[in-house]
Amino acid sequence: MCGIVGYIGKREAEPILLKGLERLEYRGYDSAGIALMQATPPSPRPEVTGRGKQGGARILVYKKKGRVADLEKLLKAKKLTANSFHLGMAHTRWATHGEPTDANAHPHLSNSGDIAIIHNGIIENYLSLKKILTEKGYKFKSATDTEVLVNLIEDVKKNAKVAINEAVRLALREVVGAYAIVVLSKDEPDTLVVAKKGSPVVIGIGKDEFFIASDATPLVEYTNKVTYLGDDEMAVIKNNKLTVKTIKNKIINPYIQKLEMKIEELEKGGFPHFMLKEIFEQPRSIKDSMRGRINGKTGMVKLGGIEKLQDKLFNAKRILILACGTSWHAGLEAKYFFEELARVPTVVEYASEFKYRNPVIYKDDLVIVISQSGETADTLNALHLAKEHGTTVFGICNVVGSSIPRATDAGVYTHAGPEIGVASTKAFTAQITVLLMMCFLLALKKKTMRKTEAQKIIAELENIPGKVEKMLLKNEAIRNIAKKFKNAKNFIYLGRGYGFPIALEGALKLKEIAYIHADGYPASEMKHGPIALVDENMPVVFIANKGASYEKVINNMMEVKARKGKIIAIITKGDAKAKKIADHVIEIPETPEPLMSLVASIPLQLLAYHIAELNGRDVDKPRNLAKSVTVE
Ligand code: AGP
Ligand code: GLU
Repeated sequence: MCGIVGYIGKREAEPILLKGLERLEYRGYDSAGIALMQATPPSPRPEVTGRGKQGGARILVYKKKGRVADLEKLLKAKKLTANSFHLGMAHTRWATHGEPTDANAHPHLSNSGDIAIIHNGIIENYLSLKKILTEKGYKFKSATDTEVLVNLIEDVKKNAKVAINEAVRLALREVVGAYAIVVLSKDEPDTLVVAKKGSPVVIGIGKDEFFIASDATPLVEYTNKVTYLGDDEMAVIKNNKLTVKTIKNKIINPYIQKLEMKIEELEKGGFPHFMLKEIFEQPRSIKDSMRGRINGKTGMVKLGGIEKLQDKLFNAKRILILACGTSWHAGLEAKYFFEELARVPTVVEYASEFKYRNPVIYKDDLVIVISQSGETADTLNALHLAKEHGTTVFGICNVVGSSIPRATDAGVYTHAGPEIGVASTKAFTAQITVLLMMCFLLALKKKTMRKTEAQKIIAELENIPGKVEKMLLKNEAIRNIAKKFKNAKNFIYLGRGYGFPIALEGALKLKEIAYIHADGYPASEMKHGPIALVDENMPVVFIANKGASYEKVINNMMEVKARKGKIIAIITKGDAKAKKIADHVIEIPETPEPLMSLVASIPLQLLAYHIAELNGRDVDKPRNLAKSVTVE
């Protein structure tokens, strides 16, 4: 999830672009880079990072691993001539393809150095495109999907002998994936081309100037007139004129709207906290974690990162999952579906405990470590211990190039985008999505799941982002429930089977950000102890969806009701029976049980968030916690 920004007009482009990048840095900070169009290069030419041919205009590219501040330092040292760049673009990267390095930083130049691109998104078919381009003699300096796209544009431009906007349009017809791109060509030093599919892009319209950005935050001080490009649309800005058309070449009339945004809301994209923003990003982040990896129509599951070693998964006698905190909860949820659908015994261990005993590890175990940050010390140490036993270790991580994916044998990135709120939300649902895909792959191979069954459940997984979107519409209703319970001193969260890890995760969210004690428990175990805590002051959250243990959970709800506990229940839409028993219900759409956590965890995230926010807690930076626990 990178940040992109562009400018064309009369002002000096560089400071506008840098300030824009600072605003977009929340979207990623693996590297930062800038491309500036120099219409009439001075002589002698200053040293440039990017290549440019003699004569005419040229594109100067400066880029660097690290933060925007590092790029700013680099640019200061370059002492660029003032007031000579009126067209440019810049990028702050959150790596998906290729580690965070200078070479992988955007902008990327085409082989000739004539075309530059910045990109937010994932080009799913980049490997097949790269193969074709390599055969034609193209060379690649980076591991990114983006560099493939810029060379594809160059190739189309050369062969079709067309203007840059037409080359972009034609090239995009060959692309599968998601993108928001800005493209510059030195042959047309007065033109800026933008295109979008899946990733966001907004165009700010000023007087004789235009601004491009991933969200509106870099534009606010310059203009309040904006237009959002739709999917499969592109914009060409030239001679102070904005033309918007579809990839199919149909000119469209852009809908120009007034921007209403306060400066302080900026980086959070209008949300009061990163956590809420990240909760609301889940339809997108879940989609990104599946992108190019499954297809419900054909039953295809392809996890490129583990492909070479996937026999280790297929032949594993046992799966051993190691993780901490929320990632551990994702692992525990996976135990249920790995055992049910793929019939492989699955053990889930706290990485922090695993390291300090003498665990039994078999050579034909497959170890899966799960970590959002990829830097958790406990998980990293447990991984090393597993490797010392000669076991194959797969990773499921969100941060590309972090320590854990570097130490594993193979792995799958979750592609959820940077998670800034300390309480993990979108990383959790992305981890479960990846684990589900891994499980389908295994179940298909082991034939514990028929192809038709797999197609059905994969199609259901593809529907999850839409269902999550529906859950987010309940935000206000959940806030109203939160108001009733914000002063509670304790909570109990109960669920059975697939509902149990969700109960644990719901309780953890509340503890972390609201500082309210909460116990997550298997609903079935309640009568073996925790029921003693239930009285009229005890809120009890039930995961009571219509699944295998539904009737039993209903019985548990009755037991709580008999003791005057206050019941908040997550129920399947239309379930009148559960509605009658509970004090408050939050309905979720009918969903196959192995996928249910992706929907049911949303209201629990929102409940914890609102209880915390209503109590004035520092939601994004809860006391005593750190986003990534790099000490044991
Ligand atoms: C989640 O809300 C927590 N802040 C925490 O439990 C976290 O999940 C845990 O520290 C593991 O982090 P990781 O996924 O980055 O390894
Ligand atoms: N796929 C591109 C890269 O890894 C863009 C990343 C993104 O938008 O998240 O550089």
